[in-house]
Amino acid sequence: MSDAMNGKTVVITGATGGIGFYSALGIAGLGAEVILIGRKSERAQEAAVRIVKETGNSKVAHLVGDVSTLAGIQQLANDINQRVSQIDVFINNAGYLGNAFRRNEDGIEMHFAVNVLAPWKLTHALMPALKSSSSPRVLNISGGDKPTAVDVTNLQAEKAFKGLITYTHSKSILEAMSIALSRRLESDGVCVNIVFPGRASTSMTQSLSVKGLPGPMKIMMPFFRIFFREDGGKSALEASRSTVFAATDPTLEGVTGRYFDSKSNEKKLHPSSYDDRVHRQIIDVIERL
Ligand SMILES: NC(=O)c1ccc[n+]([C@@H]2O[C@H](COP(=O)([O-])OP(=O)(O)OC[C@H]3O[C@@H](n4cnc5c(N)ncnc54)[C@H](OP(=O)(O)O)[C@@H]3O)[C@@H](O)[C@H]2O)c1
Repeated sequence: MSDAMNGKTVVITGATGGIGFYSALGIAGLGAEVILIGRKSERAQEAAVRIVKETGNSKVAHLVGDVSTLAGIQQLANDINQRVSQIDVFINNAGYLGNAFRRNEDGIEMHFAVNVLAPWKLTHALMPALKSSSSPRVLNISGGDKPTAVDVTNLQAEKAFKGLITYTHSKSILEAMSIALSRRLESDGVCVNIVFPGRASTSMTQSLSVKGLPGPMKIMMPFFRIFFREDGGKSALEASRSTVFAATDPTLEGVTGRYFDSKSNEKKLHPSSYDDRVHRQIIDVIERL
């Protein structure tokens, strides 16, 4: 274990499996206190035990929370705020990919709820703890290597639900929201950046079914099955590297409103992600929820 992140506290959602788990493992290996979040207590505990064992870092804890509902987000924020008074890095890693249109118990479309609303609400609810850090970072984990346009008339798949395309669009909305958030929090000294981790075989990608592929893409299902076949965490470990970089690299201190690809290279987002009018429309919807 190195001590590059010793004294820092990192909170990461969706850290009990997939890319989030390996991100937490990598960050714990740098000596940070790491708080893992997932929906299931036993799974979260197992993940924490494995990270302690593999890194030798005993400062690994877990909290149980579900970011798919407003009540769940609020409860989790309360629990995090009770557990820590300072957060140096907060990573919105938990994501949602659905094969069919679904609303949560609040009536919010699930991709929008988990991939956009939760990162916004949680970050705001954790601001006192973030502001207690001398160099706070928020990372939002995106989902497409080719940033695409935000359609503000389709934020909750109002026009049509298109499975994987609705997921990708929700990540474009997340990208635009993150730029808006970075501008909003700049005066508080909180940096907000976006990471595309790269594709990995995880429970999320393995859950993709032919139903979730839009029309012509359905014929690609056999290819997806091969591409996302179980690989014992190899691709998730690889995909976690850009998150670990953006969470911990000292050269990124004070850097905000940037997007890093799966090779940790800085890239530009789609122009709509930098558009104030797009930001206003997304924030209007979020703030009404
Ligand atoms: N895999 C890819 O190819 C890929 C590519 C680009 C971007 N991404 C993004 O990377 C992130 C991680 O994806 P992944 O593929 O590693 O996913 P995953 O394997 O499905 O892992 C999801 C993690 O999130 C937790 N989780 C799921 N729903 C949650 C909820 N509502 N509340 C709290 N925790 C929740 C899960 O824990 P429990 O089940 O224990 O709750 C698990 O720890 C996502 O944002 C995803 O969109 C993935």
